[in-house]
Amino acid sequence: MSAAREHFGSRIGFILAAAGSAVGIGNLVAFPVAATKSGGGAFLLVYALFVFLICLPVMMAELALGRRTEKDPVGAYRQLSGGSRLWRIPGWLALLTPFMIAVFYIVVTVWVLGYLLATLTGNLDQLASGEYFGQFINSPIVFAYLIVMMLVINGILAMGVKDGIERAAKTLMPMLFVMLVGLVIFVLSQENAMLGVKYYLTPDLSKLNAEVVNNAMAQAFFSLSLGMGIMITYGSYMKKRDAIPGSAKAVALTDTMVAFTAGLLILPTIFHFNPQIDPAELSDSSAGMIFLFLPKIFYALQDNIGYFGASAFASVFFFLVLVAAITSLVSIIEVPVATLCDEKGMERKKAIYTVAGAQLVLAIACAMSFGMAGWLTQFVSIAGENKSFFDLVELIFYSTILPLNGLLVCLFVIYKWKKSNFDAELQEGDSGFAGTLSQKYVNFSLGTFIPLILLLVFINTVAEKYF
Ligand code: PHE
Repeated sequence: MSAAREHFGSRIGFILAAAGSAVGIGNLVAFPVAATKSGGGAFLLVYALFVFLICLPVMMAELALGRRTEKDPVGAYRQLSGGSRLWRIPGWLALLTPFMIAVFYIVVTVWVLGYLLATLTGNLDQLASGEYFGQFINSPIVFAYLIVMMLVINGILAMGVKDGIERAAKTLMPMLFVMLVGLVIFVLSQENAMLGVKYYLTPDLSKLNAEVVNNAMAQAFFSLSLGMGIMITYGSYMKKRDAIPGSAKAVALTDTMVAFTAGLLILPTIFHFNPQIDPAELSDSSAGMIFLFLPKIFYALQDNIGYFGASAFASVFFFLVLVAAITSLVSIIEVPVATLCDEKGMERKKAIYTVAGAQLVLAIACAMSFGMAGWLTQFVSIAGENKSFFDLVELIFYSTILPLNGLLVCLFVIYKWKKSNFDAELQEGDSGFAGTLSQKYVNFSLGTFIPLILLLVFINTVAEKYF
C-alpha cells in the first residue's frame, strides 16, 4: 500500500514552506515586544546567538530524522530506535504537542480574522474602544469564523504537500514579505518613528537577567517551530538531493529577519503615536498587544492619514498576521495528518477529517474558556492562579513541553540513532558539509551543551510557572 512518498517540488518550495511554518504570530508580535522590554539590541544579540548556535543544529537534527525515515514523528522514532518502547515516548509527544498547540493557536487566528473583517468594514473606532475584544471573543460569531478558518487550512492540506502546502507557501510568503516591508517603509517615514527604532536597537545590558535569557531561548525555539514534530514531518518530504544544512540555515535566517523587521514596524508605530511612551507599559502578552494595544494606535493614525488610511493600514497589518498564522497552522496540523496516514494507513482526506473533527471540539472548548462556559473559564488552579482551559493548553504544550521535546531529539539523534548515521544523513545532498567547522560544531553541540541548555530551560519554566 505504501505509495511513493510525496515530496516538495523544489528546494525553494521547501524553504518557503518551512519558513512559513516558522514565521508566525511569535515573530510579528511576541518578538518585538520581548526585544523592547528586555534590553533592545542586547536582547537581539542573545536571541540571534540562540537561534544560530542552539536552535539551528536542533532543526538539522529534526529534518534529518524525517528525511532519513520518510515518516511522521511517531514512525521516525520507531524505525530508528529499532522498536524500543522507551523511545516511542518522544514520538508520541511530537504528535500530541502540535495537535494541542494547533488547538489554541487556531483560536487566536480566528480572532485575527475577526479583527481583519472589522477593519475592512470600517469599524476601527470600535476596535480601539478597548471593550470590543471582550465582547467579540464571547460572541457566537467566533464559531462561524472558526469553521471558516478550519475550512481554509484543511482545504490547503487536502490538496497535498506539493499542490497544497508548497503552493500556498509560494504564494503567501512573498506576499507577506512585501506587505511587511511596505508597512515598515510607510511607518519609518512618519514623525517620531526614529525614536522607536532607537529604543528597539539600543542595547541595555542591565535588563539581561536569567529570566530574560531563558525567555529569549524559549522564544527562539518556538519561533523556529522546533519541538513540535513539524520539521521531522517536513523533512520527510524533502528530496535526498536537497541539502539539509543549507536549507535549515535559510529557514532560520528568514525567520529571524522577519522577526527583526517586525520590530521595525511595531516600535516606530507605537512611538509615532506616543513619543513619550515608556515601553515598560507595553502589554506582555501577544494577545494584549494585537487586540487591545495596537488597535488604539492604528486608530490614532487617523490624525495623520485619515480614518480610511488608518483602517487600510490596520487591515494590512491584520492580514499580514493572518497569513503568517495560516502557514504556521498548516504545518502544525500536517503532523497529526501525516501520522494517521503513515501509521494507520489512512487515506489523506480521511486523516484530515479525523484530525479536524477532534480539533474542532477542543478549539470550541478553548474559545469558550473566556467566559462563555464558566467551568472552562475556571478550569484548574495552578500555583494559586485560576487557569482557563485555553491557558492550561498553552501552559503545558507551548510553555513547558517544547524544550523537553527538543532535548529528546538531541539525545535520540546522537546517542540512539548515533552520530555517524546522523552525520551521514547531513552529508547526503551536501557533500561539501564534511570537514567544515559547522559539521564539527553540530555534531559536538547536539550531544553536549545543547541538550543541557534545553534541560535548564525546561526546569526553569517548570519552577517559574507551576510553583
Ligand atoms: N513559529 C510559529 C510562530 O512564531 C510557531 C508556530 C508554528 C505556531 C506552527 C503554531 C504552528 O508563531
